Amino acid sequence: MTSPTERLEVLTADALEKIRSAADEPGLEAVEKTVLGRKGDWAQLMRGIGALAPEERGPFGKAVNAAKEQIARLLEERREAFVGERLAQEMGDASFDPSEPAVPVATGHLHPITRVRREVEAIFLSMGFDVVDGPEVETERFNFDLLNIPPAHPARDLQDTFWLENGQVLRTHTSPVQLRAMIARGGKAPVRVIAPGRVFRNEQPDRTHEHTFHQVEGLMVDEGVSVADMKGVLGMFLSRLFGKDVEVRLRPHYFPFVEPGFELDMRPVDRKHGERDEWLEMLGCGMVHPTVLRAGGLDPERVSGFAFGMGLDRVAMMRHGIDDLRWMMSGDLRFLQQF
Ligand code: PHE
Repeated sequence: MTSPTERLEVLTADALEKIRSAADEPGLEAVEKTVLGRKGDWAQLMRGIGALAPEERGPFGKAVNAAKEQIARLLEERREAFVGERLAQEMGDASFDPSEPAVPVATGHLHPITRVRREVEAIFLSMGFDVVDGPEVETERFNFDLLNIPPAHPARDLQDTFWLENGQVLRTHTSPVQLRAMIARGGKAPVRVIAPGRVFRNEQPDRTHEHTFHQVEGLMVDEGVSVADMKGVLGMFLSRLFGKDVEVRLRPHYFPFVEPGFELDMRPVDRKHGERDEWLEMLGCGMVHPTVLRAGGLDPERVSGFAFGMGLDRVAMMRHGIDDLRWMMSGDLRFLQQF
């Protein structure tokens, strides 16, 4: 009978030989299985260790490990050689050009208006406002009456309205969400919300008008909120949105749901060099009318607030130098893929 040590030598030589003569990667794997597998000769060899004298067991175990390591090294070497050959073959194949640029992965991207909306949301969230939502199909009461625009009021003509057959409207602005937010908070102050969303007007589309566009409404109500607070918050918001220092100015303007009401202009300013750009009209705003506060369940003797409404499309247009609002909702990929 051969001793386990002799047996080990034979098995090792045999394994190395098989590895050297393996023709391909699967061949190598087969050898690896017989050597390291649970059933093969090697496993049997290990079981034979019990027949050895105790002092022989240690050296024998070491010899087995050394043999296995040698085998593993050769396996690895041969495997690398095979992979190298395969790659060389593929590179040599005229139909495969490894220097050709990869095919770009076609992913979608966000609409420029969505990007502006998300930035606006992030800025106001950081200032302690909540982002809320309201229905696009509104009641006449919320879109007009409760906002201090009764049926015969000439202000109804300021916003050309899509009326539905059931007497409801496609909201002409996001201002009804002011009321919904106050009511949802049970008439309690403070209220700090913004409400971005789609609005609709029944007007002839042109470069600056569309039947569907986007606004963000803002509302802040608390004890002692003033025009100065409004100017401060809106100035900070616009600087962050445009990423530059800006000045803002208020011009008196009429909106039925605020008193006093303003249009707010802004201009970028470089305070170090004393340079200022042109004034740009940005948004409508004002102190929430007492009638509107009452409709929202708040007491105008105790609290006050400001509201504003800004077009999001306009911001995206300014940012990207887009000169026609009608592109925004066109769904035209030639337009959209530029962003
Ligand atoms: N709702 C007004 C509009 O659509 C904008 C606005 C909102 C003005 C809030 C003042 C206060 O024109």
